[in-house]
Amino acid sequence: MYRSNTCGELRAAHITSEVTLSGWVHKVRDKGFVVWVDLRDRYGITQLVFDQDRTAKELLDNAIALGRETVIQIKGEVIERASKNPNILTGDIEVLVSELQILNESILPPFTIEDKTDGGEDLRMKYRYLDIRRNPVKDNLMFRHKVTMEVRKYLSDNGFIEVETPYLIKSTPEGARDFLVPSRMNEGQFYALPQSPQTFKQLLMVGGMDKYFQIVKCFRDEDLRADRQPEFTQIDCEMAFVEQEDILNAFEGLTKHLLKEVHSIDSGDFPRITYDDAMRLYGNDKPDIRFEMKFGELNTLAQHKGFNVFNSAELVVGIAVPGGASYTRKEIDKLVDWVKRPQVAAKGMVYVKCNEDGTYKSSVDKFYGQEDLAKWAEATNAKSGDLICVLSGNTNETRTQLSALRMELAERLGLRKPNEFAPLWVLDFPLLELDEETGTYHAMHHPFTSPKPGQLELLETNPGDVKANAYDLVLNGNEIGGGSIRIHDKKIQATMFKHLGFTPEEAKAQFGFLMDAFQYGAPPHGGIAFGLDRLVAILGGQETIRDFIAFPKNNSGRDVMIDAPATIDNEQLKELHLKLDL
Ligand code: AMO
Repeated sequence: MYRSNTCGELRAAHITSEVTLSGWVHKVRDKGFVVWVDLRDRYGITQLVFDQDRTAKELLDNAIALGRETVIQIKGEVIERASKNPNILTGDIEVLVSELQILNESILPPFTIEDKTDGGEDLRMKYRYLDIRRNPVKDNLMFRHKVTMEVRKYLSDNGFIEVETPYLIKSTPEGARDFLVPSRMNEGQFYALPQSPQTFKQLLMVGGMDKYFQIVKCFRDEDLRADRQPEFTQIDCEMAFVEQEDILNAFEGLTKHLLKEVHSIDSGDFPRITYDDAMRLYGNDKPDIRFEMKFGELNTLAQHKGFNVFNSAELVVGIAVPGGASYTRKEIDKLVDWVKRPQVAAKGMVYVKCNEDGTYKSSVDKFYGQEDLAKWAEATNAKSGDLICVLSGNTNETRTQLSALRMELAERLGLRKPNEFAPLWVLDFPLLELDEETGTYHAMHHPFTSPKPGQLELLETNPGDVKANAYDLVLNGNEIGGGSIRIHDKKIQATMFKHLGFTPEEAKAQFGFLMDAFQYGAPPHGGIAFGLDRLVAILGGQETIRDFIAFPKNNSGRDVMIDAPATIDNEQLKELHLKLDL
């Protein structure tokens, strides 16, 4: 038996017990006459003690010689600590060791296994298995497990069946590039790894499964960011005989369940906003509503007053920064520099200080009087003491820029509180999105999304105006889930493919299996997929999903621990009928 107890388990009630513990040497403190060793495992740290009076000389010497991260097993008696440590649960006791066995030596780790380690990001990724020994990473993985278990429990309790779908498939368009796998047995042919199980879950509805879920790996070859990994996990769900409202209710229920189980938060009904309103009020389709700072459009108030920059702009829009009137000239100049950075790329920023005495001082006083500025304050909901920041230009760009400024200022002002949760449904997304470069439309969600009732005809005349039966769930400014009611009629699906620029032959070659299935009594259906990594990170009060994935890829899509991707030898290439022509 390697252990009778874990290193996180022993308390005062165990005093006088004989125990066997196994774990890693966390730290050795040698005071000459007494040696303390912190023994660590997943459950915690237990202090071991060896001393001149009670420990044989050889054992004491062995303890002194223990290196960090050596794996040992000890036997000993639980005794009361002379000086207790209230900071850890095992802080009342220590174990007086009578036997020590080294199970495995460790060479010196490249960084300290401490909560605050001296190891940089790259080093920790290379030795991820050591990083996982550290509490912050270990705790995140345990937190992920808890959330995942609660997801399974809720969905299973609500009649959802977990079904596995294949990984070696044909391309499913979700807007990214596919990862491809060459087929040895079928020369010149490739599988694609699923960007999502979208078509399979729809086929499961045709198969009558009615309520499906799967916690499933998805693969997308796209540029990486803090909230994106090339392989990530979805909580993928689909239901038959449902309308949008049924889906929203079911998955609002799941999210409430998680907030309750994980954070003991009772949430009320989640607010809803249309895509158009989200863009107008927050410049963003995933607004963080933990704080206000809503956009106020100023076109009618600010144009045609002699200020040319505004006159020629498609949109003039501002936000009120709480307490910002006290910013110094230098601070405001810095803010202007911030919006002019290439990442934001605004041309400039107009500001208005809403002074405590009710007067206004702006950077454009030459063109606007106190009455004008009072109206701006009203439109942006600015109070005395606030600073109004105004940007102008092309509508989409200006909204994106002001949204970036809103988030930055909220961050600086401490308004993005990690332990506050503000879910929001965003509804009525456009069905199609115009690719400015090619001038063609593509599906904003995916090509299986149904238009809102009665909008099908608009597809012919005003494709850009058609709204979809699609929804996103946003949590603290992050898109944690998205889905739609699907097309279940073969003819409508064919029309949709036509509008997306597929010839009937192309549509048949790529999605014939789905259209065929629709001929055999496909039920009305719809669903949603949550990004599990994102959901877990945000519930954990963070936004970098890497920290919640056991073995993540770095920003170049590499696993630096196993050194992948890697070249393969010629034999393997030949077997796969591939020739590298670099
Ligand atoms: P969508 O493409 O919106 O929908 O994906 C669903 C959710 O998955 C998460 N996500 C990601 N997480 C980490 N890294 C990535 N690269 C990444 N890409 C997406 C997001 C997102 O909201 N089949 C549809 C769902 C449906 O219609 O039912 C789909 O995949 O949190």
